[in-house]
Amino acid sequence: MRLMIALSTAATLAAAAVVNNKRAAIDDCLRDAGVPTSTPGTSDWTIDTHAFNQRLKYTPAAIAAPTTIEHVRRAVECAARVSDVKVSAKCGGHSYASFGLGGEDGHLVVQLDRMDAVELDKATGIATVEAGARLGHVATVLVKEGRDFSHGTCPGVGVSGHTLHGGFGFSSHTHGLALDWAVGATVVLANGTIVEASATQNPSLFWALRGAGSNFGIVVTWRFRTFPVPETVTSFEVNLPAWRTNATALVKGFSELQDWLLSGGMPKEMNMRLLGNGFQMQLQGLYHGNAAGMRAALAPLLPRLGTGINATGVREYDWMGGFKHYSYSNEIDVRRPHRQAETFYAKSLVTGALPEKVLERVAEYWVTKPRSLGMGRSWYILIDMYGGPNSAITQVPKDETSYAYRDPKKHLFLYQFNDGIFFGQYPANGFEFLDGWVRTFTEGLGQDWGMYINYADPRLGRSEAQEVYYRESLPRLRQLKKQFDPNELFYYPQAIQPAA
Ligand SMILES: Cc1cc2nc3c(=O)[nH]c(=O)nc-3n(C[C@H](O)[C@H](O)[C@H](O)COP(=O)(O)OP(=O)(O)OC[C@H]3O[C@@H](n4cnc5c(N)ncnc54)[C@H](O)[C@@H]3O)c2cc1C
Ligand SMILES: *[C@@H]1O[C@H](CO)[C@@H](O)[C@H](O)[C@H]1NC(C)=O
Ligand SMILES: *[C@@H]1O[C@H](CO)[C@@H](O)[C@H](O)[C@H]1NC(C)=O
Ligand SMILES: *[C@@H]1O[C@H](CO)[C@@H](O)[C@H](O)[C@H]1NC(C)=O
Repeated sequence: MRLMIALSTAATLAAAAVVNNKRAAIDDCLRDAGVPTSTPGTSDWTIDTHAFNQRLKYTPAAIAAPTTIEHVRRAVECAARVSDVKVSAKCGGHSYASFGLGGEDGHLVVQLDRMDAVELDKATGIATVEAGARLGHVATVLVKEGRDFSHGTCPGVGVSGHTLHGGFGFSSHTHGLALDWAVGATVVLANGTIVEASATQNPSLFWALRGAGSNFGIVVTWRFRTFPVPETVTSFEVNLPAWRTNATALVKGFSELQDWLLSGGMPKEMNMRLLGNGFQMQLQGLYHGNAAGMRAALAPLLPRLGTGINATGVREYDWMGGFKHYSYSNEIDVRRPHRQAETFYAKSLVTGALPEKVLERVAEYWVTKPRSLGMGRSWYILIDMYGGPNSAITQVPKDETSYAYRDPKKHLFLYQFNDGIFFGQYPANGFEFLDGWVRTFTEGLGQDWGMYINYADPRLGRSEAQEVYYRESLPRLRQLKKQFDPNELFYYPQAIQPAA
């Protein structure tokens, strides 16, 4: 049986090479290799081509819909044989740039979300997670056993895209990034072999996967360490209305906040971000511990932020309650089919403490520019309290993974700038709003900043994107790209270029 499939696959592969129409060629190959597919015109196709960011819709050449690791392997093999077809794995489909769909038309998309089993080994605390699972499903299964790993807030985000490029959330200051909890991965490489990647097996591949994973293969199975979840977590907000309209207040308050963070004022158990939008400016936090602990942690900071400033909305939760609080979703156990959607443009930054001159320019932009946008735009900025001396992220040695932001001082804040619309098309002249905002930061910071590919900005050129996403890791990543994927099968518009 196996032999017959192998023989017929080989015959078809040979034939496929001479077929000009790449869609037909890839479809034939997948069919003959016994790989399930989605076909145009079916509801599966509609679901599988769905883009979270409706601004960036792309049409694949074909969609493989694997239910086994062997299906994934054969799909990769088909693409490698049919010349000029690029392969993109798609997990949760939440890439801001629709890179799961290839970031352009004509890719073979390997839609993984039919493979989302999660299993916990209670003796070791190691979770085995199929690569098409979404965060909410993973958390649902693990938290039932009183465990979890560190990850982001959105239940619909795919575990693979998230972990391969970072993975920050309301447990990251305490426990690190999602990728810091990965201890192993099973990977299909460009040449159709299946390998293990871990600290002891293919360690350089494992290094590359944790930060730039979409460039090196398709992860089919993850192994994560887990931690026992705390009994009580406490959510809170601190409203800072003056910062929204008064640039002087914003500069003064933000300086205090960054001094507090830089000097180790923020205890490890605290997880916090600054949210600004058209209606509010507030700190939002999740303290791993009870409300009394949370108040004690904030007590030295609050008087520095202005008179009469205090925490509101203080609520104690169990672990799952804390996750739900910041999920902004009624559905936590998210599985296929999933069709969340927004129409937006986003940018990111990672910076150290902001010099006063930069801060003044940023604040001026912040209190004036958004007001000139007019109706229909829905913008926000999120600034995560990311680094500092007590952050678990920056305690990991910088060469442990390819993820580039591990310096407690240089990598103090992670930013997301997001500008969406409620209806219709994102305006062609809309981009300047966020471009200008990010420019107010970067013009004063020299080379001491980076960007986060989990908030991918598809308007960056390919070389610039590689530089700002991977910084010091880029030279080694390009060497490894040459080793593992010299023909750029796993290409997308911002993919790493193999070393010359
Ligand atoms: C609503 C929302 C909330 C978010 N919240 C957070 C947050 O709290 N914290 C945070 O850090 N980020 C957050 N993100 C960003 C998110 O982490 C990234 O967009 C992430 O890359 C999405 O992963 P995905 O699997 O859903 O996306 P996909 O679009 O499926 O994949 C993203 C990239 O990973 C590649 N990829 C996917 N699966 C594999 C695989 N198995 N093997 C190899 N490559 C693969 C794809 O080819 C693509 O390049 C959020 C995004 C959204 C839309
Ligand atoms: C703006 O904030 C500064 C610093 O807190 C304060 O001194 C000033 O009075 C505020 N200006 C207005 C118009 O409220
Ligand atoms: C904040 O509110 C709490 C609870 O109401 C109170 O105990 C505390 O004294 C307040 N702190 C400040 C700085 O106002
Ligand atoms: C596939 O690629 C890997 C990584 O470059 C290499 O180690 C392995 O030998 C290759 N296998 C085959 C069969 O070519």
